[in-house]
Amino acid sequence: MSATFERELGQALRVAREAGALLKENFGKSQEVEYKGRIDLVTEMDHRSEELIIGRLRAAFPGDGFWAEERGREAGTGQSDRVWIIDPLDGTVNYAHEYPVFSVSIALQVAGELVAGAVYNPLLDDMYAARKGGGATLNGQQRRGSKVDKLEQALLATGFGYDVGSEPDPEKNNLGPFARFIRVAQAVRRAGSAALAIAKVGVGRTDGFWEGGLRPWDMAAAMVVVGEGGGLLTDYTGAAPDLGGRQLIATNRRIHEEMLLVLAAGVHGTRTT
Ligand code: IPD
Ligand code: CA
Repeated sequence: MSATFERELGQALRVAREAGALLKENFGKSQEVEYKGRIDLVTEMDHRSEELIIGRLRAAFPGDGFWAEERGREAGTGQSDRVWIIDPLDGTVNYAHEYPVFSVSIALQVAGELVAGAVYNPLLDDMYAARKGGGATLNGQQRRGSKVDKLEQALLATGFGYDVGSEPDPEKNNLGPFARFIRVAQAVRRAGSAALAIAKVGVGRTDGFWEGGLRPWDMAAAMVVVGEGGGLLTDYTGAAPDLGGRQLIATNRRIHEEMLLVLAAGVHGTRTT
């Protein structure tokens, strides 16, 4: 196994581009839609993209495990401690409505550590990528997180879990944090692809992201981009994020503390405005 994960990242980039091309080609064509929940849907393209990605990665790295949004977890063979974490189409609701924001997200985890990640936006041909120790790149160019040091100058992004209509607690359904951040930040965007929104923080396109309803495949690849771009990643308490823990704050190094305070204000009832 290579220690630099160059070969793995190279393959992830090729496969993300190939899956992205498939999604782009079919964007705007009518899709078979199945509902997993009231809002949570899956199109034929989620499945086709996932099949393509897993097929290509399995051929390149036989024995590796997979953890993908539509098919769930599949352990690797033998002693393998390598797992590819895949969102074949992040932004499915957008895709089904021809709203042009979606991505393909592919991460590699080795012995519990995220070591490589690729997030691809096929409509703009933007590739956000990183591997452990190699820095973060956007379309092959090295990039870092932004230098913005105040929330009032920060462009933030967030998202809402699919339980937003059934979860009554505003701290859990994100309406509480959203109301606070939108008053103190320069602006808050909610574009519908968490993988893209998080990856943008790592390359300095946006300054911070938070969400409390994430799944591992929404965040894994983009977390590598943020970490390698010099950013900070925690849960809402400031502890190291857990892929299964649903929560993530991803920021440049300078606004993390302020974001933690705004999130904590809902719990402690502190005024932030
Ligand atoms: C969703 C998107 C959305 C986020 C949700 C995710 P999907 O993923 O990333 O931005 O707010 O939490 O579930 O279902 O489009 O792959
Ligand atoms: Ca997703």
